[in-house]
Amino acid sequence: MLYIILLMSLCCGCTADKKSSTEELRVGVLLYNQDDLFISSMKQELDECFRKTEKQEGCRITVSFFDSMGSQTTQNEQIDAFIKRGYDVLCVNLVDRTDAATIIDKGKKADVPIVFFNREPVSADLSRWDKIYYVGTDAAEGGKLQGEIFLDYYKKYPEKIDKNGDGVIQYVLLEGEPGHQDAAIRTESCIKEIKEGGVEVERLAGANANWKLTQGKEKMEGWLTEFGDEIEVVISNNDAMALGALEAMSESEWADIHIEIIGMDGIEEAQAAVQEGRMMGTVLNDAEGQAEVVVRLALKLGKEEEPGEIPNMKERVIRVPHDKLGTG
Ligand code: GAL
Repeated sequence: MLYIILLMSLCCGCTADKKSSTEELRVGVLLYNQDDLFISSMKQELDECFRKTEKQEGCRITVSFFDSMGSQTTQNEQIDAFIKRGYDVLCVNLVDRTDAATIIDKGKKADVPIVFFNREPVSADLSRWDKIYYVGTDAAEGGKLQGEIFLDYYKKYPEKIDKNGDGVIQYVLLEGEPGHQDAAIRTESCIKEIKEGGVEVERLAGANANWKLTQGKEKMEGWLTEFGDEIEVVISNNDAMALGALEAMSESEWADIHIEIIGMDGIEEAQAAVQEGRMMGTVLNDAEGQAEVVVRLALKLGKEEEPGEIPNMKERVIRVPHDKLGTG
């Protein structure tokens, strides 16, 4: 009997500082820039998933979203404010992914765990503390799937792509933000996949359009003026820039000749363009799947519990798989 009482008191002692399910959990979410189309879809998924989890778990979850509007200084100040107000856990979409150390140290000092997502901190920063996680994707896998979409389509309809019939595919490339883990790696891996599939390619031009529709459109307008129908394919690191290229084409004198475009993210507008045959394909950057992992981690860490087994996790980094969405 004495042993049981002792055991019970020990157990209570070890969970004394954990949140009970009736307590409120306060989560702060910081977005690098809410104007980013994929990030705004992530926000929606996170919001829905927190609401769903609240019902399932029967605990109150207060979620406050903040837009850092492209400024790391603003984001750092927002972090200070959340910590001061006693938030239990933070979900952070870094502005400058190479500058996570300040935020991590703030979290560590106040013992507020952090779940980073979409913009990956460098590994030296990730090893600064064991209460930090990263949720994202494998950029090389994403690029490879873009390459596969191209190959599937090209093998079925070579004449629709190689319009000048020279056996070489002339392409232009819309790249994301310089230094972003999802930009250069997606590009490299997509082109590698196409070449390994036995197709010769020639890069006519490429430029960073910072994930933005407007910049993608601007670049494409310039290339249409310079190369016109010499362009056979547009490869884009994301859908927003691909949609910009699509707009530029439809407003140009080349509106009648169809130039194939491959995007990435699987945002609604791009999926519609794929369905309507205006885009060759896109790759699903699974916002819902990533949001589910972020929410699960936030819940566990906020309640001071161990996150347990999470699929695709290696050293506190979770890479949610992509999927192909093509017309091929
Ligand atoms: C990428 C995504 C882009 C953009 C970027 C922001 O993963 O494909 O569209 O949202 O993240 O960090």
